[in-house]
Amino acid sequence: MLVHRPRRLRRTAAIRNLIRETNLSRHDFVLPLFVSEKIERAKEIPSMPGVHQHGENEIASIAQRAHESGVQAVLLFGIPKSKDEQASGAHAENGVVQNAVRQIKKHAPDLTVITDVCLCEYTSHGHCGVVRLDGEHFHVLNDESVELIAKTAVSHAAAGADLVAPSDMMDGRIGAVRAALDQAGFDQTGIMSYAAKFASVFYGPFRDAAESPPQFGDRRSYQMDPANADEALREVELDLSEGADIVLVKPALPYLDILWRVRERFGRPTAVYHVSGEFAMVKAAAEKGLIEERAAVLEIMTSLKRAGADFIVNYWALDLMEWLKS
Ligand code: PBG
Repeated sequence: MLVHRPRRLRRTAAIRNLIRETNLSRHDFVLPLFVSEKIERAKEIPSMPGVHQHGENEIASIAQRAHESGVQAVLLFGIPKSKDEQASGAHAENGVVQNAVRQIKKHAPDLTVITDVCLCEYTSHGHCGVVRLDGEHFHVLNDESVELIAKTAVSHAAAGADLVAPSDMMDGRIGAVRAALDQAGFDQTGIMSYAAKFASVFYGPFRDAAESPPQFGDRRSYQMDPANADEALREVELDLSEGADIVLVKPALPYLDILWRVRERFGRPTAVYHVSGEFAMVKAAAEKGLIEERAAVLEIMTSLKRAGADFIVNYWALDLMEWLKS
């Protein structure tokens, strides 16, 4: 029989530590890095206080320093000098990301480099795929885009990326990327799929950071409707069946239910991306003195792990290395 006793346990700090279910560690975070062909020295992104675009010549030392402070993995985004309709910069052998990966691997060989694979930073119109204009309307051409996405992924792997991360949300891209990598001899390069990526207002500041706002229309025809959870599970299932090694849910806090269900249903490596708009909100509140930044961030990160994330891509990864030292 259960003994019903009023709860009197005095939760000392030691007891709290002993019975804590979710613990944060310095291994739980991936740092996004932006490298631009257009600048020489670091430039702060106005909508993301403390986050910078970096020049090609400094990206390796930035990455190396992050690694020395404890960051295990970075997620790399590139901003090319010129853009065109076919996103040719995305898969160029000497493209901005390809060059940066080679540099980083030379200076910090043990740092895991994940590359964001998408066309939006490289297309003149800012969409994640190739587009056909039809008077007022536009169509994103799925299969043509997938071909370029796969080509881009192979060029990243050839430069030395450990994991490629397709974030475009075209249909069938994971299978195509897997096949192209295998065929090119990169069967050990893994895929982190942005599997459940919602068409979110919280990407706003990122589009400043990556200089990739769509010039017309929006991304709702290929990103997911925030109202759909079952569909998100189907997307994840598809990506896993096509060969994704890690599935990612994005954004984070508004989609905790999705994260939890993905983790529960599939039990596969699951990541979450705490995105630019979520970052900017906490920053703005902290700057106004409305919220305590460090405590807020630790609570957010704990929530994301509790909901099932194996790791969290986020813009505080460097601060977290400091905060979680002791
Ligand atoms: C697309 C991409 C986006 C983000 C990561 N990869 C933007 C988008 O889909 O519009 C957003 C990340 C963030 O907001 O922090 N290449």
